[in-house]
Formats: sequence, structure tokens, C-alpha cells
Amino acid sequence: MRILSPEAGEVDLVERYAYPSDGVWLRANMVASLDGAAQRDERSGGLGNAADRHLFLLLRGLADVVIVGANTVRAEGYGPVLPTDAWDGIRDGRAPVPPLAVVSRTLDLDFDAPLFTEARARTIVLATATADPARLEAARERADVIIAGEDSLDFPAAVAELAARGHRRLLCEGGPGVLAQVVADGLLDELCLTLSPQLLAGHPTRILNGPPLPVPPELTLAQVLRDDDFLFLRYTR
Ligand SMILES: NC(=O)c1ccc[n+]([C@@H]2O[C@H](COP(=O)([O-])OP(=O)(O)OC[C@H]3O[C@@H](n4cnc5c(N)ncnc54)[C@H](OP(=O)(O)O)[C@@H]3O)[C@@H](O)[C@H]2O)c1
Repeated sequence: MRILSPEAGEVDLVERYAYPSDGVWLRANMVASLDGAAQRDERSGGLGNAADRHLFLLLRGLADVVIVGANTVRAEGYGPVLPTDAWDGIRDGRAPVPPLAVVSRTLDLDFDAPLFTEARARTIVLATATADPARLEAARERADVIIAGEDSLDFPAAVAELAARGHRRLLCEGGPGVLAQVVADGLLDELCLTLSPQLLAGHPTRILNGPPLPVPPELTLAQVLRDDDFLFLRYTR
């Protein structure tokens, strides 16, 4: 065992979290309490701090597309991605903001909400072939729809289609239901995990919520950063 000696001074987060220069790369960004909770009061916001929020926004700026499950959109009241000061220069040569790509089977989404009506980059809906035709039509009016899979989203096909549309730097913001499937399908290249210094108990989900993985992947620790009592871990495949 070794002690991690703190590096003096601030780190350059843009450099630290740069995507590989080529190829498709799927990064997930999640926050958990010390006892493994991915939710506090049914949301994730209560788990983070200002640095976590800063990193959350910066990772969006570094991505070509942000994948998120419909439950997270509903629980957290997701609006469209907005540029921030922290993005200074990082999107040069790219669209000003990455689109959100919402995973949904029911398409029970408010297509009149700003997420669809005010998005600077048209929101993408990752849908299934058996989705309700009327909901699908409503989605198509307000979003770019990618159909992958029959009853259940075919995540590898959806990611391949996003990449074919030029979105090779992918960011998945969960939630735990979606992330469990991304991992089960072997699509996760990197996990950015904020460890929040809270103990919550109760019955929140963990950052992956799905059936046990037959072959649990073991990740490699790529980086540990600290802000206050929070740890910011980067693990890669
Ligand atoms: N700690 C963190 O970092 C973090 C991050 C994100 C979210 N959260 C929290 O996690 C909770 C939400 O997570 P969650 O796991 O319940 O939901 P989720 O993963 O955000 O979304 C699940 C939804 O995605 C759609 N979906 C999932 N798998 C699908 C498939 N195979 N085919 C088609 N559609 C599929 C379905 O949408 P439809 O129901 O529309 O069909 C499903 O209900 C919230 O409390 C949120 O605050 C925590």
C-alpha cells in the first residue's frame, strides 16, 4: 500500500479529463456517497459540492453528446445543455453545445419542455421500434430520433449510430438503470466517480442498478483528485 501524497497547486481539469484523440470513447460521470448511495432524496444533486458541479459542467463541454436515461431527465428536471465560462475554448471547431441523447422506451417525455424547444443542439431521443407511434411522431417533431432495438434499446447499436453521426466523445450521466446496461454491454471505457463524504443509509440505488454482471469488469485507477473532503476518481477499462 502507498499513501497518495497531495500534489501542490491546482490541476488543469481540461487536460486531466481530455478524451483520447481518436476513436469512440464512452465516459460515465456519477456521484455516490461513502455508503454507495447514488441518490439523496430521489436526486443526485444533494450528493455533490461546487467542485462536483464544476466538473459535471466541464465534462459536458468536453463531450460530443450526453447520454441520459429518461428517469433522470424526469427526476432532475433536465433542461438543455448550456455553455459555461469553464468551457473557454474547449469547443473550438465543434458545435457550441453537445446535444442530450435521452434513452426512453415509453417516450413519456414532455416534448413542450425547454429540453426540446430551447435546445441549442437538437435533443436526440434513443427509442425502440415498438414505441407508441403517436409518441414517436411527437418525438420526431421536436427531436432527432434514433431507433435501436425492438422492445429494449440496443445500446451498442445506439452508440454506433451516435458515433456515425460524428459523436465519438460520449458522456453518460446515468442514471443507474442506463449505466448498468451500458456496462453490461461492454460499452464503458471510463468511469468518473465523485465520492461524496456522506453516509445516508436507507434504500437508494447504487450507481449501477441492474442484474448482476456475469463477468464483472475490473477497472484501472487512472486518477485521484481531491477538493475539500470529496474525491474525484477516474477509472478506465
Ligand atoms: N448519482 C448519480 O450520479 C446519478 C446520476 C444520474 C441519476 N441519478 C439518480 O438516479 C435516478 C434515476 O435513475 P434510474 O436508474 O431510475 O433511471 P435512468 O437510468 O435515468 O432512466 C431509466 C429509464 O431509461 C429508459 N430505459 C432504460 N433502459 C432502457 C432500455 N433498455 N430500452 C429502452 N428504454 C430504456 C426508460 O425510460 P422510460 O421510462 O421513459 O421508458 C427507463 O425508465 C434519479 O433519482 C436520479 O437523480 C443519480
